Amino acid sequence: MGEKRVLIVYYSRSGNTKKIASELAKKLSGDLEELIENKNRNGVVGYIKSGLDAVKKVNTKINSSKFDAKEYDIVIIATPIWAGTMASAVRTYISENKEKFSKVTFLCTHGGGGGEKAFNEMRELSKAYPVAICDISNSEIKKGSWIEKIDKLVNEIDK
Ligand SMILES: Cc1cc2nc3c(=O)[nH]c(=O)nc-3n(C[C@H](O)[C@H](O)[C@H](O)COP(=O)(O)O)c2cc1C
Repeated sequence: MGEKRVLIVYYSRSGNTKKIASELAKKLSGDLEELIENKNRNGVVGYIKSGLDAVKKVNTKINSSKFDAKEYDIVIIATPIWAGTMASAVRTYISENKEKFSKVTFLCTHGGGGGEKAFNEMRELSKAYPVAICDISNSEIKKGSWIEKIDKLVNEIDK
């Protein structure tokens, strides 16, 4: 990594996106911002609530940021796919911080699909065109092949 300052912002309900965001932060020597909501999303009820919030494009309250996105050359925004779109906390973060972004990169984890639609929405919401995108399925996480995808992403960002 050159002199670029990288911020990785992520939300993770069950740990997949967290694992990938953390690895990216290591590889890019970036700062890691976890989005935390004051909302219980555990269990089946939490799953259903989350799906509904995503469909309704609800903005949830998130913790205040540790890092200022304005100070970074690239902000990587990582989200799980919920009902074919971004998780609610990520929607809130983009809405509240989009004026601060210079370059963005989008990453998602999903059970099988939905990345393309989510990326389109993230682009519209942030008013920013990503320099790179990366989607990782749960089976790629299981098999371990997500590492290669992350390495490719790191190369793209490093250009
Ligand atoms: C409420 C909810 C809705 C989901 N909807 C989708 C979906 O539409 N498409 C998909 O491929 N995966 C879907 N998933 C699976 C997650 O995107 C996937 O397991 C992801 O890796 C979870 O990330 P996390 O562990 O960081 O929370 C959904 C998961 C939840 C909790």
